[in-house]
Formats: sequence, structure tokens, C-alpha cells
Amino acid sequence: MFSLYSSSYIKLLILIQVILIVVSRECIPRDFGKGSIVCVCNVTHCDDLKLDRMKTNEADTVTIVESTKSGKRFYLKNVSFKSAAHFKQRTHSQNYIDVTIDRTKKKQTLIGFGGSFTDSATINIKSLPQALEQRLIEDYYSENGLEYNMGRIPIGGTDFSTRAYAYNEFDGDYNLTRFALSNEDLEFKIPAVKYAEKVSKQPVLLFASSWSAPKWMKTSRNICGGTLRGKPGGRFYKIWADYNVKFLEAYRSLNITLWGMTAGNEPTQDYYINSMNFSPETQRDFLKLHLIPKLEQHGYTADKFKLMIVDTNIQHIMPFAEVVFNDSYVESYVSGIAFHWYFNRIFSLNVVTEASEKYRDKLFLSTEACAGWNKEIEEAVSLGNWTRAEAYAFDIIQVQFAIQIDLIALSNFKVLNHGAQAWVDWNLALDIDGGPSWINNTVDAPIIVNAEHGEYYKNPMFYVLGHFSKFIPRSSVRIGFEVQKSILNNAILTAFETPQNNIALVVLNPNEFDVELVVRDAKYGFFSVELLANSIQTFIWK
Ligand SMILES: *[C@@H]1O[C@H](CO)[C@@H](O)[C@H](O)[C@H]1NC(C)=O
Ligand SMILES: *[C@@H]1O[C@H](CO)[C@@H](O)[C@H](O)[C@H]1NC(C)=O
Ligand SMILES: *[C@@H]1O[C@H](CO)[C@@H](O)[C@H](O)[C@H]1NC(C)=O
Ligand SMILES: *[C@@H]1O[C@H](CO)[C@@H](O)[C@H](O)[C@H]1NC(C)=O
Ligand SMILES: *[C@@H]1O[C@H](CO)[C@@H](O)[C@H](O)[C@H]1NC(C)=O
Ligand SMILES: *[C@@H]1O[C@H](CO)[C@@H](O)[C@H](O)[C@H]1NC(C)=O
Ligand SMILES: *[C@@H]1O[C@H](CO)[C@@H](O)[C@H](O)[C@H]1NC(C)=O
Repeated sequence: MFSLYSSSYIKLLILIQVILIVVSRECIPRDFGKGSIVCVCNVTHCDDLKLDRMKTNEADTVTIVESTKSGKRFYLKNVSFKSAAHFKQRTHSQNYIDVTIDRTKKKQTLIGFGGSFTDSATINIKSLPQALEQRLIEDYYSENGLEYNMGRIPIGGTDFSTRAYAYNEFDGDYNLTRFALSNEDLEFKIPAVKYAEKVSKQPVLLFASSWSAPKWMKTSRNICGGTLRGKPGGRFYKIWADYNVKFLEAYRSLNITLWGMTAGNEPTQDYYINSMNFSPETQRDFLKLHLIPKLEQHGYTADKFKLMIVDTNIQHIMPFAEVVFNDSYVESYVSGIAFHWYFNRIFSLNVVTEASEKYRDKLFLSTEACAGWNKEIEEAVSLGNWTRAEAYAFDIIQVQFAIQIDLIALSNFKVLNHGAQAWVDWNLALDIDGGPSWINNTVDAPIIVNAEHGEYYKNPMFYVLGHFSKFIPRSSVRIGFEVQKSILNNAILTAFETPQNNIALVVLNPNEFDVELVVRDAKYGFFSVELLANSIQTFIWK
């Protein structure tokens, strides 16, 4: 039956219209009944986030970028500082937050923000007409978009693949002579990564993570569950190190240089997902006896290449760090600790604080997050869901940049104040069911692709990520501030000084009512604005 939306009709339409692409800057909203809106992008219309429409900056003028549950997306305003003398003559409204910026308190240096080039993400991206495929990557990596500057690349298949696979399924090929990248790498991931590198104005720091070895190397003879056969020091541990380095070399030969890698995704997993089930001890010995020597032998020395451990939920940070870093050779090579957000609401984030204080010379990176993963209580995709955007903002501020003012409304999060340096999202794009996922582990993503209709949807999570990634460039330094407030409920904020000497202050108002915000900077005086109910603002000034 011919339908107006049949894909051949759409493709024909698209072919005709590719050359007519008009960059319409405003969001085209669509309400799917999940509390807020998505912005729709198709071949003729897509909103952009170009900074040239954000006039910065007379010295004492503050540019305000605002997104709200009620539907504003990167809405621009400005306000001027008033001299402190005026402050005494005014009174606060009932609900207020009063923030004093302290430029003298310098904290951690930022590395960046990014997302993951999974098989599923890049298959979804490529299912769009070429102009839109490029547009989606630009939305994340270019100056028209979020200006992401990091990316995570799986080594082989993950739960976000269409099949269970690894790069060498030839039992007994101990020298890995038949190792080969997959069609997923060559057709989907690599072209997407290259396009991101092309449109990004900063170097994109890419890091790889493995999920599972080929079946024949594992005790389960299965991609899911099981562990490497034998023991560290044995044949299969050696081959697994060779395999990982072959991946880096294969990407290098295609001109993709990895900034680093993790020692393996979620190492303790031993169940339905692609996994390896390493213990802290087997990981330490694998790194010491096999992976690090192999990396060094191939020129991936610690000064040039960042190896990170943990790469799983925060309760595993100390058990892994204490054992793995107890070996001085391993400790001196490993650059950092990567962790995932899934249990940040359950376990005390104090462990992140503790670890960052104990291992001061290590990098701390949040390397995976997604909404809609808890099947028991939530649906996978929830188009236009503002609560999920708030959860992202909350996690970024709290985990990374860490000032938590009051925790009544979100009391299952824990207070912390420590310094991670990057926040990397999971799938860059998924389909309308939150897949594909060969084990049906569907979840949500900031961009949802509807290939059949030749369009994609930018969720509130997308814009909330941009409130950070676009205004806090690499090498920004977190600065201090002090807060007074009247309200029991919280507002959640973080402040950075950028390499251009701008201050970027991000404030989330998770309350269902407006709150007055007063910001003081000794250099200029103060300004005051209304934070709308359920909103996020970035304030930028010199
Ligand atoms: C939005 O997502 C949250 C978290 O998954 C969920 O609890 C809530 O019900 C969703 N909101 C709507 C309107 O579906
Ligand atoms: C794209 O979206 C706009 C606004 O909804 C609509 O007017 C236009 O027809 C759409 N283009 C295509 C090719 O569907
Ligand atoms: C501030 O906003 C007003 C309009 O609201 C605009 O006319 C003015 O150019 C803006 N000033 C700056 C410095 O961006
Ligand atoms: C692996 O390579 C070594 C050295 O080149 C060789 O001696 C050995 O036979 C090879 N093993 C297999 C299984 O191909
Ligand atoms: C890699 O880059 C080199 C030098 O720029 C170029 O000669 C070569 O063709 C590129 N290879 C691939 C696979 O892109
Ligand atoms: C660290 O190494 C020391 C000396 O080898 C050993 O006594 C200690 O138990 C180790 N600690 C951990 C957490 O592995
Ligand atoms: C995934 O879901 C499909 C459709 O419901 C089903 O046919 C398939 O068996 C499921 N696969 C797994 C691995 O659960």
C-alpha cells in the first residue's frame, strides 16, 4: 500500500530537497505528551545553536542562555551588572539564591564532553538521508551544535549492536592473523567519527573500550558472561592484550588516533550482556603482564596514551583502585579512573571524592550515562521528557563539578564536592524504540532517529548537555563560589573560568516555581534574574 510516508517516497522527496536545505534556526517543537517538547529536524528544517547570534560581551553585560520545561530552547537574553552600592537598596523576593563567585578559588581543569559511537548509534545516524546524517553529527560536534570534543568507541560489539560478535571468531588463531575490523566499524563507526573530527574545531579526544573477547577465548564460549580462559600469564590473557592493541593499530592505520582506552567496559559484569568478568586482581595482572607491556611496545607510552581503569559503577572504584594501583608499574602507567552513572543515586558519591583525593595525579572521567535503563520502573524512550534532562544536569554538576546546595527534593542523591574532568554520554542516537539492541536492552538517548519519516528528535537532554559542553570548553578551570538561599528546595550550580577568560555559570532550577537568582562578582557588582520553574540557564560574562 502506498503511504505518504513510505520510505521510497521520503527518499525521493529528500533527493529533490537536499540542495534546498535551509538552516532554520528556531526549534520546531513537537509534543509527545511526556511533559516537554522535542525539536524536530528534517532535511528542510533544523534548529542550530550558533554562537554568533549570542552577542557577547560588553564587559559588564551577561549573556543568558535559557532552556525550560515549558519549551524554551537556548533562548537568549542579557542583563547588566549593577554596582554593589545598589544592592543595599533592594530586598530579596521570597524564594532566592544569592551566589558570590570566587575567582581566586581554582579547582580541576576540564577535559571535555562527548558521546559514544556505538554500532547502534552510527547505524541509526546512517539510516538518515546523507544531509541529515551529517547534520546530526554537526549538532553534536560543530559550532552549530553542542561542540562536543570527546568520543567513546567500543572495541567490537556491545549490547548496542545488532548481533553478537568480536573481530576474530577463528578458534585456535592464537596469532590473530585473521583479526579484522567489522562492517560496523568500516561502514558506520569510522565514517561517523571522521566526520565528527572534521566538523569539530577542537581535537576530538577519542577513547576505546572493549566489551567481550571472541567466544573461543572465554570460559563460557559465549559473548555474554564467562571470563578469559586460563590465568593471567597464560595464553588467552596474552592474546586478549594483542587483540586490544590490534584494534588500536587498525584504527591508526585508518588515520584515527585514539587518545586513550579503558581497561574494559564494566569489568565485573557476568551476565546477559557482552562481558568479561574481571576481578580487581585479574585486571591488575592482565595490565601488568600483558596489556601495558604490549602498549608500550607499540609506542602507546603513558605520556602519549591514557589508560583508564574501573569504567563501571562507582561502588567498584575503591575495590579496583586499591588493588590495581597497589602495583607500582601498573600505577605509574595508568592515567585515570573512569566511572558510570547508573548507581549514582544509590551509592554514596563520597567514594569519588575519596578516590580523587587519594589519587590526585589521576584523571577522573564519567564515561557512560543514559536515561530509561531501568526497565522495572520506566520506559526506554520518553520523547520530550524534561525530568530526564534534569537528571543529566544534576549528575553532571554533582558528579563533575560538585556543589550541591540542598538535597531535600532529590534526597536520594548524595552530597559531594570533588573534581571529575569529563562527562561522556552513551549512544549518540537511538531509534524510536531505544535500539537497536541485540539483547533488547533498549534505553533513551538525547537524539532519537525516526528514519522512516526522514527526521530526528532532539530531546531536552540534548539541550541540557549543550548548556555545559558549549560554554565550558576544554581547559576551563572550575572556580569557587558561596551561596546563601532562602528556599528549602535546591538550585544546583557550577562555575568555570574559560581559557578566553569568560566566566560560565550553569544553574539548574529543579523547582516547580520561579526562583530569584542574585549573582555577585567583586569585579563588577551584582545582577539579578528570575530563574523560571524547571529550567536551566548558562550565564556568560568576561
Ligand atoms: C520521564 O522520565 C522519568 C524517568 O524515567 C519517568 O519517571 C517519568 O514518568 C517520565 N515522564 C513522563 C511524563 O513520562
Ligand atoms: C520539515 O518540517 C517542517 C516543519 O514541520 C515542514 O514544514 C516540512 O514540510 C518538513 N520537511 C519535510 C521534507 O518533511
Ligand atoms: C541585550 O538585549 C537587547 C534586547 O533584549 C539587545 O537589543 C541588545 O543588543 C543586547 N545587548 C547585548 C550586549 O547583547
Ligand atoms: C604463531 O606465530 C609463531 C611465531 O611466528 C609461530 O611459531 C606459531 O606457529 C604461530 N602459531 C599459530 C597457531 O599460527
Ligand atoms: C591517512 O592519512 C595519510 C596522510 O594524510 C594519507 O596518505 C592516507 O591516504 C590516509 N589513509 C586513510 C585510510 O585515510
Ligand atoms: C598491597 O601490596 C602489599 C604488599 O605486597 C600487600 O601486603 C597488600 O595486601 C596489598 N593491598 C591490596 C589492597 O592489594
Ligand atoms: C528481543 O525481542 C524480540 C521481539 O520481542 C524477540 O523476538 C527476541 O527474542 C528478543 N531477543 C532477546 C535476546 O531477548
